[in-house]
Amino acid sequence: MDRLQAARHFFSQLDGDQSERLEAIELELATTGTYTLTTEELTAGAMLAWRNSNRCIGRLFWQTLHVIDAREASSSDEVFEKIVAHLRYATNGGKIRSTMTVLPNEYKILNTQLVRYAGYETGEGVMGDPLSVRMTKQAQRLGWVGEGTAFDVLPLMITDGQDVRLYELPEDAVLEVEIVHEAYDLFDGKTIKWHAVPAIADMELEIGGLRFTSIPFNGWYMETEIGARNLADVDRYNLLPLVGKSLGLDTSKERTLWRDRALVELNLAVLQSFEREGVTIVDHHTATKQFKRFEKNEADAGRDVTGQWSWLIPPLSPATTHIFHGHYENTIKTPNLFARSGCPFSGFHQPAKEELKG
Ligand code: ARG
Repeated sequence: MDRLQAARHFFSQLDGDQSERLEAIELELATTGTYTLTTEELTAGAMLAWRNSNRCIGRLFWQTLHVIDAREASSSDEVFEKIVAHLRYATNGGKIRSTMTVLPNEYKILNTQLVRYAGYETGEGVMGDPLSVRMTKQAQRLGWVGEGTAFDVLPLMITDGQDVRLYELPEDAVLEVEIVHEAYDLFDGKTIKWHAVPAIADMELEIGGLRFTSIPFNGWYMETEIGARNLADVDRYNLLPLVGKSLGLDTSKERTLWRDRALVELNLAVLQSFEREGVTIVDHHTATKQFKRFEKNEADAGRDVTGQWSWLIPPLSPATTHIFHGHYENTIKTPNLFARSGCPFSGFHQPAKEELKG
């Protein structure tokens, strides 16, 4: 699809008569080879990209996305200011708001998320988040010195294409929640926490044949992301053995299902803790029901819901959800979000469209 076709495809999804606007775009394309979206169009496009995000279970809320048009930012310092403002706006004292900031393509954030914990290789395994080891080394090469705890927030690494600058996020821009179970000491006295806002920084937005490559965006967490993956995966914080022992479970044999029992209490602790601190979070059963409403809304609007089943099912008790028993076509519609090509530290996003084509 060429750009004009792509523009036509996008504008056909917007409300109202877009014919005059499309004529102007056709002229702009003919003279400059590209065109510029208005803030309103950019916002609508970002919402559609969320609606088309096959891996996202939270799409019921696609129309609530708050888009900050920061395409005029003109230095790494200014980009950093916009990111801090984004985090403060999105965090909102715990009442998390889904937000996207559109920055100029010239500036790229090297981090995979705005907030990530460092991972340090030590003689006895990794201190912190093993997922961040390479990112942490990069920050250290640039002169960053972390405290060495299991939850050091990495600095942002922003490049203007020439040099990479390091920016330490101000403490008040990074809300964190200590994970404490109502009934049990799950971690043998250790402090375990997670940050409140999941803010992806390594994807790009495609709207109408245009690519926006610096578009940090966030929603709020579903508890399993933290309790069944970040804190539980063997190659992440790997806390299930500690939780199992703290609960007094027999961890010497699999058949006691100590892993499963530990998982449930860990996930409950995440939900209880966020709720205690007044920080938005959704449990996987409620998120599933919300997704069902999304499916109904889409059917009512005459659109099919595309999805990637393996990402939509929650990692805890998947077969208790209707999603597990359903079927989803993983067709990529546009606007959409893609892995940002050439992003140094990410590994699991859907490849950019060019790469999909092979
Ligand atoms: N799973 C990722 C994490 O744990 C975040 C992905 C986006 N999640 C979201 N709820 N919007 O950090």
